[in-house]
Amino acid sequence: MNNEWWQKGTVYQIYPRSFNDTNGDGIGDIRGIIEKLDYLAKLGIDLLWLTPMYVSPQRDNGYDIADYYAMDPQYGTMADFDELLEKAHARDLKIMMDMVVNHTSYQHRWFQEALKGKDNPYRDYYIWKDPAADGGPPNNWLSKFSGSAWELDTASGQYYLHLYEVGMPDLNWENPKLQEEIYQMMAWWGEKGIDGFRLDVINNISKNPDFPNDSLATAQDDGRKFYVDGPHVHEYLHQMNRRVFDKYHHVTVGEMSSTTPEECIKYTNPERQELSMAFNFHHMKVDYPDGKKWASAKYKLTDLKRVMAEWQLKMAEGGGWNALFWTNHDQPRALARFADDQAYREKSAKLLAIILFGLQGTTYIYQGEEIAMTDANFTDISQYDDAESRNAYKQMLTDGISEADALQILREKSRENSRIPMQWNDEKHHGFTDGEPWLAPIHEDNWTVEKALADPDSIFYTYQRLIALRRDRDIFANGDFKLLDAKSEIIYDYERQWNGETVIVVGNFSAEEVAWELPARHHDKTLQILESNYPREDITTNLVLQPYEALMIHLS
Ligand code: NOJ
Repeated sequence: MNNEWWQKGTVYQIYPRSFNDTNGDGIGDIRGIIEKLDYLAKLGIDLLWLTPMYVSPQRDNGYDIADYYAMDPQYGTMADFDELLEKAHARDLKIMMDMVVNHTSYQHRWFQEALKGKDNPYRDYYIWKDPAADGGPPNNWLSKFSGSAWELDTASGQYYLHLYEVGMPDLNWENPKLQEEIYQMMAWWGEKGIDGFRLDVINNISKNPDFPNDSLATAQDDGRKFYVDGPHVHEYLHQMNRRVFDKYHHVTVGEMSSTTPEECIKYTNPERQELSMAFNFHHMKVDYPDGKKWASAKYKLTDLKRVMAEWQLKMAEGGGWNALFWTNHDQPRALARFADDQAYREKSAKLLAIILFGLQGTTYIYQGEEIAMTDANFTDISQYDDAESRNAYKQMLTDGISEADALQILREKSRENSRIPMQWNDEKHHGFTDGEPWLAPIHEDNWTVEKALADPDSIFYTYQRLIALRRDRDIFANGDFKLLDAKSEIIYDYERQWNGETVIVVGNFSAEEVAWELPARHHDKTLQILESNYPREDITTNLVLQPYEALMIHLS
């Protein structure tokens, strides 16, 4: 039986830079998180995932780590962090650190040493190759931040690999000394008393040793690459588990790019002693036409349901464990993408929450989802700070896409959309900062935490109840999953079964009224509404669902 606290619990993701600023520099900080702990405790979440706050030149907002053992001064000090940990624990909130070990920053001491020459002892901490016969990059791998994944170091005449930004060289996991340094560093965090790790792009750490050319068009497409789920990744994670996670009772989630259910079962089946759970992104690609991210497209509900159902069924069958989410700091907000962020904004936010929280896995909320924050809707490239978005824009123009179209595509697809600051209240900059925010939305919006807390019917309280439901009822962590209508482009309905109990979740993903009938085999059951987003006293077997209506129904 799935009965671990984190299987019934909910994680709240904080993007510290945009969460709460207490010193007026326009950048959120650790003290800002401390200030909001009571708010987070009130929501009822179990675990906080904090995106990286280590020392970093911030070329990729902290995913480029220059020192694993210190906090970046823009976020605060290690003393602030220790206080955060202590105060979170005092409220029964656990803390999961974001850990990036696929690459470091070019400013990391190891890379600075490695640059000194081929004989330097740190050279082999990174991946270096001689140029191809024509003098160009060693192979055709593409960086996820556009362009080649190889950068020439003119001093040595060799290229280094960077699957991400050019200032983020990939680490060489084949080197046992590097492995040892990483395990020791993670154990150091374990000694500090943190509760676990979110492991950045962890299924990329083991590269195919032959470094063959890829046949695939873009770095973002859904194809399997020669560094995805590579030959030794499971060994490395098992080792990490033995050396760190098991010892400190850590809960862990791996970020898995372009993976498969088969691999994720291996990562997360407890018998293999690797990770607790895995993020996969296949449901985030239903609006990538032909696997292309930087293109404008609407998703089809049938695709979304098919992908999510496949992961529900396969992971359950293989004894793996899913991390469930609609958005994060790398995705646009889910509201406009999957439902409606205008006339039905509140209904849509609740609909998405109800659909996600009925599934099997550990549920995640990204900051601002609980108040239905919307996309940034930037209209000019100068408003984007994110290197990935800016590079993609340049690439689109090079590819002949017009400026207007490229900007529209960014408005739909850029991850910057979810990075605008939290909206706490009606004060200037929504109470996020007394200074100038590092990233500012152009639209006025009066949806705030303050209003949500004051309104008993707000989305905040929908999440609060859903979190409690999942903790109290075993069916959510354990029930069998069955997709009901796979063909409808309007209705998303599914069933969970456990121990003689049934829960049915149904959502109307349209602005029209639509008739829906409970499956006939359940017509004689007693029905009870567990959660809904419209006032509905009674429930019968035949319903007319209102626009974006969602119901979670218990049958006995
Ligand atoms: C995934 C992180 O979530 C993303 O923000 C970052 O750019 C890449 N990994 C590279 O670390």
